[in-house]
Amino acid sequence: MSLKGRDFLTLKDFTRDEIYEFLDLAKELKDKKKKGIFDKVYVGKNIALLFEKTSTRTRCSFEVAAHDLGIGTTYLNPTVSQMGKKESIADTARVLGRMFDGIEYRGFGQSIVEEIAKYADVPVWNGLTNEYHPTQMLADMLTIREHLGELKGLKMVYLGDARYNMGNSYMITCSKLGIDFTIASPEKYFPNGELIEECREFAKESGARLIFEEDPYKATKDADVICTDVWVSMGEPDEIWAERIKDLTPYKVTMDIMKNAGKDAIFLHCLPSYHNLETEIGREMGEKFNLEDIEVTDEVFEKYADVVFDEAENRMHTIKAVIAATLG
Ligand code: CP
Ligand code: NVA
Repeated sequence: MSLKGRDFLTLKDFTRDEIYEFLDLAKELKDKKKKGIFDKVYVGKNIALLFEKTSTRTRCSFEVAAHDLGIGTTYLNPTVSQMGKKESIADTARVLGRMFDGIEYRGFGQSIVEEIAKYADVPVWNGLTNEYHPTQMLADMLTIREHLGELKGLKMVYLGDARYNMGNSYMITCSKLGIDFTIASPEKYFPNGELIEECREFAKESGARLIFEEDPYKATKDADVICTDVWVSMGEPDEIWAERIKDLTPYKVTMDIMKNAGKDAIFLHCLPSYHNLETEIGREMGEKFNLEDIEVTDEVFEKYADVVFDEAENRMHTIKAVIAATLG
């Protein structure tokens, strides 16, 4: 298989056909798991899960996926790993590369996961960096396929801060797969110009249209998929909340936005989400800014909860496909 031994750092590195290879394998592995069939073809292999930021879905997905495949896992969090404090990234990568058959990294700059990939001679998987979240994209695409069918030609709209991992990654994925992609946000939240240019090249080949629109209603008109993300990402300072709430409140996903979209439109959220005040940060911001929810209303979230939790489940099936396809 063409994907054997490959790193999985951003979907920019994969062709349309390769992305479909991951998605088809994920569907096959999901169907098999539902029937209780497990191919433990990787017994004897071990993978390292290196997390410098917190996680529920990504960590659990890597662990469950690996165990389903017969693979052993070792979880390293920032408090137990020496990386960056007493040992360089390059040395850590060379050590892990000698002991493990694959390495997952979640953390800060994309340059860190690239450096790990450079120094470890085994596949390295990006479990989220500031810039990209490629495993999340496979889960989202699998979910859209399950709910809406053919991906090419769909109209997807992302509302919110599009300069970070989710906005960037949606733009790449849609432009590779021929999905018309609109970003609805104030101009200052559009992705950086260099990435937009790269994606315009992918879009020329796939036929996707890339649109940047400040009016949330023009942007979402007749859309098939509406998606958003938290307005303040992991690693960003708390002081930024006031500005984000002021700038992005017109881009909150409300029932009016969903009604403006196509009649069969679905809503996606990578999670975690502040759709109510049932979290520490949600409560704190709710009290401070007099809000009941932040990036999406509770009504929208609950109406589309089945889709959103399919998306969360699909993290595991798609991550399993990435491990199975790339492990040497
Ligand atoms: N969507 C996502 O990456 O979730 P976690 O942060 O819980 O891994
Ligand atoms: N943009 C979010 C995504 C979480 C899955 C973050 O980086 O915190």
